[in-house]
Amino acid sequence: MEVKLSVQRCHPDARPASWWQDYTVDVPEHATVLDALLAVRDDQDETLTLRCSCRSHICGSCTMRINGRSTLGCKTKLDAARARLREGEPIRIQPAGNMAVIKDLAVNLEGFFDKVKAVTPYLQPTGPEPEREYIVPNEAMLTVREAMACILCGACVSACNSLEAEPRFLGPAALAKAWRFTEDPRDGRDAERLEFLSSVPGGIWDCTHCFACVEVCPKDVRPMERILELRRRSMEAGFTDNNGSRHSQAFLDTISRSGRLDETRVAMRSVRGPSELLEWTPVGVKSFLRGKVPLRHKPIPGALRVKAIFAAAEAQGRRDSKRGAR
Ligand code: SF4
Ligand code: SF4
Ligand code: FES
Repeated sequence: MEVKLSVQRCHPDARPASWWQDYTVDVPEHATVLDALLAVRDDQDETLTLRCSCRSHICGSCTMRINGRSTLGCKTKLDAARARLREGEPIRIQPAGNMAVIKDLAVNLEGFFDKVKAVTPYLQPTGPEPEREYIVPNEAMLTVREAMACILCGACVSACNSLEAEPRFLGPAALAKAWRFTEDPRDGRDAERLEFLSSVPGGIWDCTHCFACVEVCPKDVRPMERILELRRRSMEAGFTDNNGSRHSQAFLDTISRSGRLDETRVAMRSVRGPSELLEWTPVGVKSFLRGKVPLRHKPIPGALRVKAIFAAAEAQGRRDSKRGAR
């Protein structure tokens, strides 16, 4: 089968440093995008740089963007990659996003692994060591195992919108890894971990819940859900002196009180005090001038029903926690 590929090439010493190059290759029907790229490299252009090893979605090294979507080249069949393209349109291949390109499809993974290291990605048991191995209940490991499936491919990081705006954000892969160790019953440093993750610049509160990491993860790790769980646990553990948890609480309060979101009140309650509020004044003025801070809200039909839903959910939560306490 003949396939057209359009690859975003990049070489820091070339002028221009980045350009699109088209290739046509003949590969078997069942081939993957990675197979097609390897055929290009073997038969047409040995200067094309890319990373791969296992070719069976295990090693995590062939992450790239295919038609704009971050994924593994070895997990993407050519048929699937061509499914939404027009007749004759080439498959577009780019390096992974949010990481500096070294050459063509090879990106610099140093920052990615630095962030993984920053969450202390290993067990830190406390208390006396057992005489033999640590015994863990099966149910506890069933949940943790889902996050252990991560192959550190970086597809989630490549797709993350928050990272585009805030490069310090630890990102979905490192935070899913952090969750894995806070959940593991053998680890004894949950409190320290949660305190760090909730207070460090670029920690759990920088995720914008865009779902991109959940959609692209080839191993169904669902990083965003892990981050939301870390937030809940850190608030329950009392780590609430940060703008993220203040924002979250203010959001909940305004909606449960009036059935609608009051952006001005939420913004004012998200900061620590008057001096921090002052720092944000230029943003507030800009938002006001762009009509994002209305002085009066128009009535919203049905807003009171939202309030009733909140009241019912809170009552249910109280009943559940009473039952749990018995
Ligand atoms: S849900 Fe959060 S962590 Fe995941 S891609 Fe979006 S912003 Fe990034
Ligand atoms: S969470 Fe998923 S997408 Fe992110 S690095 Fe791990 S396996 Fe890859
Ligand atoms: S080559 Fe190993 S995951 Fe693709």
